[in-house]
Amino acid sequence: KQKMILDCDPGHDDAVAILLAAKNDVLELIGITVVAGNQTIDNTVRNALNVCQALELEIPVYAGCGGPMVREQVVAGDIHGESGLDGPVFEPLKKEREEEHAVNYIVRALMESDEKITIVTTGPMTNLAMAMRMEPKIKEKIKEIVLMGGCYQNGNVTPAAEFNIFADGEAAYACFNSGLPITMVGLDVTRKALCYPAIVDRMEKIGTKASKLFVDLMRHFNKSQKEVFGWDGGPLHDPITIAYLIDPTVLTVKPMHSEIEIRSEQSYGRTNCDFFDYQQKDHNSDIAIDIDTDKFWDIVEDALKRY
Ligand code: BDR
Ligand code: CA
Repeated sequence: KQKMILDCDPGHDDAVAILLAAKNDVLELIGITVVAGNQTIDNTVRNALNVCQALELEIPVYAGCGGPMVREQVVAGDIHGESGLDGPVFEPLKKEREEEHAVNYIVRALMESDEKITIVTTGPMTNLAMAMRMEPKIKEKIKEIVLMGGCYQNGNVTPAAEFNIFADGEAAYACFNSGLPITMVGLDVTRKALCYPAIVDRMEKIGTKASKLFVDLMRHFNKSQKEVFGWDGGPLHDPITIAYLIDPTVLTVKPMHSEIEIRSEQSYGRTNCDFFDYQQKDHNSDIAIDIDTDKFWDIVEDALKRY
C-alpha cells in the first residue's frame, strides 16, 4: 500500500476524506495532521478526533498550525457551523491528540521513512509549507502532493479565490513552487460532485456506522450549501483527492503552469493556471479538469461498506 499523510481542517468534507482514506485497498493512512481552516485549530482538532473515535480508527492525530503564515486568519463558519462540524452528535471524546506538533511530525515521519510518502492536503497548506521550510530535505521523501484547493474558473470566497488557498496564499505559493509533483483538485471538478438528496438516501441504505455519520454530516452540509450558494446538493470537495489516489481514472488532469497570486488585494489566493499554455512556462502542476462522478460515488459507497 502507498503510505500517506492527510493534512486537513475538518470540516464536513474533510471528515469524509478521513473516512475514505482510512479504509481502501490502495492507501495506508499513517497519520492525520490538522490545521486551522474551516474553524480554529482547537475545533478542527477536536473534530478530527471525534471522527476517528466514531469510526474506531486507531490513527494518530497531530495538531498543527493555528493560523496562516502571513495573512490574517479567516474561517468558514457559514458552511461548517460554529464547531466546524455541526450536525452529527458524538459520544464524549476519549481519543487524545498526540503531543508532537503536526509540523514536527510531518518532518519526522518523512525523514524516518525508507519509502516515499504521499501528502494530501484538504485545508490551508500551512503545515506542509512550514514543514518544507523547517527541513527542506523532506522534499526527497514526498512522492507527490495532492490538494483540494484552488480553481481555474470561479472562486468560492472571492470571484478569484477558493477558500483553502485564500486562507493561506503564501503557504500554497510555497507548495506550488516546491518543485514537487503536485495535483490540484479544485472547484472546477469538485463543483460537479454535488451530494444530492438521492445520493444521501443511497448511502443511508448501507446502514453501517460510517454511513450514519456520512448522512448526519451531509444533511447539515447540504442545508448550509443551500443557504449560502442555493444548491440542492453540496459539492463534496475534499474526498475527491482520496478517490483520485484510489483510482486515478476518477479525474482527468491536465499538466499546466500554475502560480499563486499573493500580491494582489482583489485577487489574493487566485490559482493562476495557464490552461491554454499562453506563457509557455514549465508545467509545474497537474490540474483536474473533469471528474467521473459515477466512479466517485461508487468509491464513497465502497468505503462506507467497509466499516
Ligand atoms: C474547501 O474549503 C473548505 O470549506 C472545505 O472543507 C474544502 O476543503 C472548499 O473550498
Ligand atoms: Ca477542508
